[in-house]
Amino acid sequence: MQRARPALPIPLLLLLLSGPLPGAAAPRDPVDECHQQLPLARSAASWIVGGHEAPEGAWPGVVSLQVLRGGVRFMHLCGGVLLSHRAVLTAGHCVDGRMDPCSWRAVVGAHNLHKHGPYTARRRIRRIIVHSQFKRETFENDVALLELKSAVRYSLYIQPMCLPPAALLPPLENSSDCYISGWGRMAEKGKTSSVLREAQVGILPHSLCNSSEGYAGLVNDKALCAGTWAGGTDSCQGDSGGPLACYHPDTDKFFLVGIASFGVGCGRPRYPGIYVRLSQYRTWIKAKLLLINSTWNPVGSTLSILLAVLHAALAQIL
Ligand code: ARG
Repeated sequence: MQRARPALPIPLLLLLLSGPLPGAAAPRDPVDECHQQLPLARSAASWIVGGHEAPEGAWPGVVSLQVLRGGVRFMHLCGGVLLSHRAVLTAGHCVDGRMDPCSWRAVVGAHNLHKHGPYTARRRIRRIIVHSQFKRETFENDVALLELKSAVRYSLYIQPMCLPPAALLPPLENSSDCYISGWGRMAEKGKTSSVLREAQVGILPHSLCNSSEGYAGLVNDKALCAGTWAGGTDSCQGDSGGPLACYHPDTDKFFLVGIASFGVGCGRPRYPGIYVRLSQYRTWIKAKLLLINSTWNPVGSTLSILLAVLHAALAQIL
């Protein structure tokens, strides 16, 4: 005779009824549910190559992605952008050939890379996801997401950057009020910067950027050109993966419109920087963020398994 399924013991029942553990919550839409606080500081005037030191806390979503050199020291290699508590967006070419998560770390909430403040968080990497159609010959689909081993807590110095809602794209993708930021070289053959720098740039029309004096058709519609046609202000080596953030006056917010991808030299006339046009990667980003959010939480999932085993065992005993 089959025994009736026993009722769950009260403490276990309470635990299960109390809902999912933090972090095991049903994944919400991370792209549409991005909330950012106003940054601590904001640049008054604009001024990477041709830029200036960013005020501390001005870009709380900017991340320094660093690789292990000689097994002991981490070296800044690329920029990145924090999209959620444990996801950093960067350029695909930054991780190309360096797909071992153990060789990377992310430094979040930093200003001076050689002097981490009390609000700086360092995280090792659990997983690296590169766009499956990334082409190293042409830098097409130059995007990747890094999953942090543990979540970072948001603060005044650590905030996610938001992708713009679709309705805001037309003004933002033509904006002349955008900023690039990073720790990259300050001149084409110059040194990298130990403090975060920023520069104001405008998004340039495709027709101009692709004209025969410029990139001559090399830039496709999944990329944006930003900088100045006359040269002088640009991202450079070490800035890749970092943000191109444009200001939206009505909401008084900056939105993430692109990430630094490539350029001919740095700051040269007629060769502005090329940025990944993120509006073309919304679906990809959304899918990968959901993947990260739903598969993370080792504690939560271990506990759920333990509870299930306990439940089954109790069903046998009682
Ligand atoms: N590919 C470079 C990097 O790996 C970024 C180059 C951006 N160049 C430019 N002229 N905007 O850091």
